[in-house]
Amino acid sequence: MKNIAILGSTGSIGTSTLDICQRYPDRYHVIALAAGKNVATALEQCRQWRPAVISMADEPSADALTQQLKSEGITGIEVVHGTAGTVRVATHPDVTFVVSAIVGVAGLEATYAAVALGREIGLANKEAMVAAGELIIAKARETGATILPIDSEHNAIHQCMRGGTPAEVKQIWLTASGGPFRNTPLADFAGITPQQALKHPTWVMGQRITIDSATMLNKGLEIIEACRLFNLPADRVRVTIHPQSTIHSLVEYVDGSILAQLSVTDMRLPILYAMAYPERVASDLTFDLATLSHLDFQQPDLARFPCLRLAYEAARAGGTHCIALNAADEVAVDAFLRGELPFLGIPETIERVLAATPVRTPASIAEVLAADEAARHLAREFLPQPAHAA
Ligand SMILES: NC(=O)c1ccc[n+]([C@@H]2O[C@H](COP(=O)([O-])OP(=O)(O)OC[C@H]3O[C@@H](n4cnc5c(N)ncnc54)[C@H](OP(=O)(O)O)[C@@H]3O)[C@@H](O)[C@H]2O)c1
Repeated sequence: MKNIAILGSTGSIGTSTLDICQRYPDRYHVIALAAGKNVATALEQCRQWRPAVISMADEPSADALTQQLKSEGITGIEVVHGTAGTVRVATHPDVTFVVSAIVGVAGLEATYAAVALGREIGLANKEAMVAAGELIIAKARETGATILPIDSEHNAIHQCMRGGTPAEVKQIWLTASGGPFRNTPLADFAGITPQQALKHPTWVMGQRITIDSATMLNKGLEIIEACRLFNLPADRVRVTIHPQSTIHSLVEYVDGSILAQLSVTDMRLPILYAMAYPERVASDLTFDLATLSHLDFQQPDLARFPCLRLAYEAARAGGTHCIALNAADEVAVDAFLRGELPFLGIPETIERVLAATPVRTPASIAEVLAADEAARHLAREFLPQPAHAA
């Protein structure tokens, strides 16, 4: 039995994780949950899972949840909030496995706290690895914490890496769907709306990662995540566009063999793999190979997807440039979703923030968060200013 904490329980990965817990009640026991501001779903999860502790993003959300639990006569659930709350969830003494699935850097401190305790981590929150990967990996080496990637590409690489030693790996290939604008004429990019960008061809995910897939910044974050998780330089992490999203990624070995992982496009499979590791457990998440007629690949076009070029540059620079890439993107994506920034303004904002950010290597999580805040501040300054009333 693994005792589970879920950071980001109300999100897409969080709810898929709970679905796994529901399917395998003899293997997984939910102990602690951390949500953001979705009080209704958090309440529903408290009713069903009766966690020992639940954290909400802020005090008003925690107060609202406390009130509702009280009015339903549900007792015995500790309600906490904020960063201290997420850390409490990740470090609860009964927890053995932490699923890190808060979007953005909000889950960073809790993830790091779990690593510092030597826990097993199922890592979906790629932003934490992009912003503080060097520190997280160093701490995991010190404490013996196991980090199991949930991101489907890194999960695939983790599976394919079981076919050889790290020294035998020549390079790895991350597959990318190419997003909804893979074949859109470049001239039409300026007019892309949030509604169009939120339609991902193969995956159903949270809003930020869906927009990041449309700009391919998501693949860029994954390049940095892969460099850190698998200890590889950026030029040995390659990207290939594979529109079917059937092969989730590949590892090329020095002898010329290339191992690929294929499966359904359902995040419950990589979540189950991470939670069950090192075992494999039976599931109904099967893929019918007989229905597969062809697999396509094409090279990514860096003119169409400047975010990918910016990510490779940040991966080579490291430190504050990886932090700034992620932070500037989050600010720009928010502005795009609010209709305040055009689609092409996303890479433009990131490029301006990177140009204004000196390269440094933060020595602590506090320094990472300070660099993150500085980059957000710059990004906000570079956003188009709202027109003032006459
Ligand atoms: N979805 C996928 O298929 C997928 C695949 C690979 C990797 N990932 C990664 O997994 C992470 C989660 O993605 P997602 O798609 O599940 O996102 P999502 O659906 O937007 O969910 C995000 C979760 O984070 C919570 N949250 C947001 N701000 C918070 C804060 N300040 N404090 C505490 N909790 C907060 C949200 O809570 P509320 O909703 O309650 O506000 C929600 O539970 C991201 O890092 C993403 O890149 C996702």
